[in-house]
Amino acid sequence: MLLIILNIFCAGLHASDLPLTLDYYKSTCPTVLEIVKSEMECAVLSDPRNAALILRLHFHDCFVQGCDGSVLLDDTITLQGEKKAPINFHALKGFRIIDRIKNKLESECPGIVSCADLLTVAARDAVILVGGPYWDVPLGRKDSKTANYDLVSTNLPTANEGLLSIITKFLYQGLSAEDMVALSGAHTIGMARCVNFRGRIYGDFETTATMNPISETYLSKLRSICPAAPATKADNNESALDYVTPNLFDNSYYHILLQGDGLINSDQELYSSVFGLETKQLVQKYAENGIAFFEKFAESMVKMGNIINPDTYVDGEVRKNCRFVNT
Ligand code: HEM
Repeated sequence: MLLIILNIFCAGLHASDLPLTLDYYKSTCPTVLEIVKSEMECAVLSDPRNAALILRLHFHDCFVQGCDGSVLLDDTITLQGEKKAPINFHALKGFRIIDRIKNKLESECPGIVSCADLLTVAARDAVILVGGPYWDVPLGRKDSKTANYDLVSTNLPTANEGLLSIITKFLYQGLSAEDMVALSGAHTIGMARCVNFRGRIYGDFETTATMNPISETYLSKLRSICPAAPATKADNNESALDYVTPNLFDNSYYHILLQGDGLINSDQELYSSVFGLETKQLVQKYAENGIAFFEKFAESMVKMGNIINPDTYVDGEVRKNCRFVNT
């Protein structure tokens, strides 16, 4: 019931009726897509991890006051940004890649392309460059003149949060449980830090995993990367979210969940939670059918990218520098 009410309540926030269009920059910056693509090619070629960084940045942008580039803002005397909020601090990277793309866009078409659009297109290109699906990106977002430090903790899910709470956070954004399971497939690339998987590897890992020789070796490797006693030094040690194909966007993440070997609690819950009948079936479906996963992921990324705060749309701007509001 709560979920239904939230869904109705949030429908107003999800502004799919706002005028985002595929050809928004057709006359004002016809080369925008090529510029973003070629910069992303360089970034991902030099390090495939960069694809993961940009994809996560886009997610963390959209869940806090809509996709408005708020996550890109630096702290100033008058503005508290989102970068130092606990979930983002030490965890979000890739800002220099965005700066580089923005500089190119500003020299080609000054004052035209918003940072929010730039990030949305860059996230799509990131996925393609590591083997994932293509989708068309509706454009025309505006950049916010504000950020919201507190909303980061309120709106974004964490590794040790329960499944129902995470589903509620997605519903609040106008995204379904099925969107959530498909979008979690983003964890087919990228890394997590020890601080986010310590609870899991000293917690129920041995219960969910089949503990065959591969799982056993994997678990002992994780424990050597991430010692039990909370040691500040080890907190930032990293391990791949998908240990089978860490740099490839495929459906092996779901296979790992079927084996019970998910790295962070929230991922494994999709398959192993007692509240997760629907999510378990979806994990099985995407493990069996990579094409179904790609199709749903692409569709859900468009939905996530279309989360727009109507106020930003009216009051927003096109920032000259993604880190600062225009003066
Ligand atoms: C369903 C709820 C989600 C939770 C609880 C969650 C949580 C996390 C956590 C804890 C990490 C590791 C961060 C670190 O240790 O620094 C992570 C990494 C990542 N997440 Fe999620 N996430 C979720 C959904 C998503 C979605 C929807 C996307 C994008 C569509 C996404 C993309 C990523 C990527 C690409 C990384 C790797 C980043 C890197 O390599 O630095 N996540 N996530």
